[in-house]
Amino acid sequence: MFVPSQASAPSRTEPAIVRLDQVSVRFGVGPGAYEAVRHASLDVAAGEFVAIVGPTGCGKSTLLNVVAGLLAPSAGQALVNGRKVEGVTREAGYLFQQDALMPWKTALANVAVALEVGGVAPLEARERARGLLARVGLARFTERYPHQLSGGQRKRVALAQMLIRNPSILLMDEPFGPLDAQTRGMMGDLLLSLWSADRKAVLFVTHDLEEAISLADRVVVMSAAPSSRIMADHCIDLPRPRSINEIRLEPAFHDYRRAIWNDLRDEVMKAYGAQDEGESAP
Ligand SMILES: Nc1ncnc2c1ncn2[C@@H]1O[C@H](COP(=O)(O)OP(=O)(O)O)[C@@H](O)[C@H]1O
Ligand SMILES: [Mg+2]
Repeated sequence: MFVPSQASAPSRTEPAIVRLDQVSVRFGVGPGAYEAVRHASLDVAAGEFVAIVGPTGCGKSTLLNVVAGLLAPSAGQALVNGRKVEGVTREAGYLFQQDALMPWKTALANVAVALEVGGVAPLEARERARGLLARVGLARFTERYPHQLSGGQRKRVALAQMLIRNPSILLMDEPFGPLDAQTRGMMGDLLLSLWSADRKAVLFVTHDLEEAISLADRVVVMSAAPSSRIMADHCIDLPRPRSINEIRLEPAFHDYRRAIWNDLRDEVMKAYGAQDEGESAP
């Protein structure tokens, strides 16, 4: 019989490439201060794909920002390769929900610029950008401007832009959020095929539990705001390679969904309740 993993951190022997050690994040000072996250601890091994789920406003983006070095924790620390994060984390690539393509540059120039700012010569940067655009299925679209590309194609350019510096850690914050369901599935498959060829550590934030289970090795659940904590950590022991659409038909997939939703349901309800209170407040 299939037994879903328990809500405890799995034991691993590999050293963590990313470690959150009792991280708390507080915004503001004094009586008006707001504690978004409290005592979050998490280890991500090199090459591991970890998804973070939790109700809206629970601090998922906040935790990614701490790992990226864009936000300093008010207590605890983030470590990358055993070193405390201070300033921007060079080992990490970041992909947001809204891509940040420059509308006046072609797909090729948008990807190449990620190398050029690091001092790579323009000719070499463009050559490498061309190779990466081919890997994300855009070989024929290198000269298009962002407005001439579909939402899925723009997302592929943004993926290429993130990957071209060859970061060992990928921080992805609801990256496929604005896409339709079919395109999301295709992007998930593309991400998994790129990842399996060249495993990076991935921290993937999503509010979509099915997306989390179909992509990740582990799904980490955060509790509702304020003072959110990491309340569960489920190992997803589904076979790879996976197809985003087909893995969802597996009975084991539904067992994971039921087990994790069991953790998540009350937190989502709390978050909705807090929103309603906020809306009815004078
Ligand atoms: N720079 C900031 N200043 C004040 N509050 C913030 C700031 N960034 C985030 N917050 C608050 O912290 C909480 C967590 O935000 P966030 O990490 O964006 O949530 P999530 O990504 O899970 O939806 C929210 O209540 C948000 O309003
Ligand atoms: Mg967010």
